[in-house]
Amino acid sequence: MVVADRYTRTAITLHWLIAVLMIGNVTLILFVDTFPDAMVRPAINLHKSIGLTVLGLGLLRVLWRLSHRPPPLPPGMPVWERLGAHAAHLVLYGLILGLPISGWVHDSAFKSAGDFPLYLYGVIPWFRIGPIMALDPATKEQVHTLWFQIHSSLAYVLYAMVALHILGALKHQFIDKQPELQRMLPGRK
Ligand code: HEM
Repeated sequence: MVVADRYTRTAITLHWLIAVLMIGNVTLILFVDTFPDAMVRPAINLHKSIGLTVLGLGLLRVLWRLSHRPPPLPPGMPVWERLGAHAAHLVLYGLILGLPISGWVHDSAFKSAGDFPLYLYGVIPWFRIGPIMALDPATKEQVHTLWFQIHSSLAYVLYAMVALHILGALKHQFIDKQPELQRMLPGRK
């Protein structure tokens, strides 16, 4: 059996697309307060559109991962590092799905949602989560607050995990001299 030494082209494309969209989305929303007033609502709408795109791509990625075995980790990697890498990847998958879902729940509990219909990229009408929109006003307000806290807290976990993920990849590349980045970079073998 030939064992692949790098991820498939689809996995590589999804990885970098999701990474760029998530980092772009965090940057956009963290700077939203510095935008002129007229730009704030469109920027938040763009944030939601990018987030929902990440959710779709994340689901595709999970399906791809479940049906395609990734290349094995480099030989000689200590057990703790293998377990750590697997745990970190699992948490990252959780964040790729959990961040958009928590944002979507928070947004679906927005009391003025009816006045601000959701459009993907200002064009495609999109739905909010029906059972959450149907809650009584007091419960809806609680859900709105709680899920914003969850959304915001997951973002902090994301910052820590992305830092760990990048440091881990760089350590293997430059300290352990294992050509790991090539596994997730486009290009020839
Ligand atoms: C890649 C996915 C996403 C990431 C990484 C992300 C990240 C963030 C971050 C870092 C914040 C600021 C939190 C704070 O101020 O403490 C935020 C706010 C927010 N997010 Fe998301 N988010 C994502 C997806 C979504 C989605 C799918 C929705 C809704 C459909 C959404 C709705 C919101 C809303 C309404 C806010 C508050 C904006 C404001 O009023 O300033 N997010 N998000």
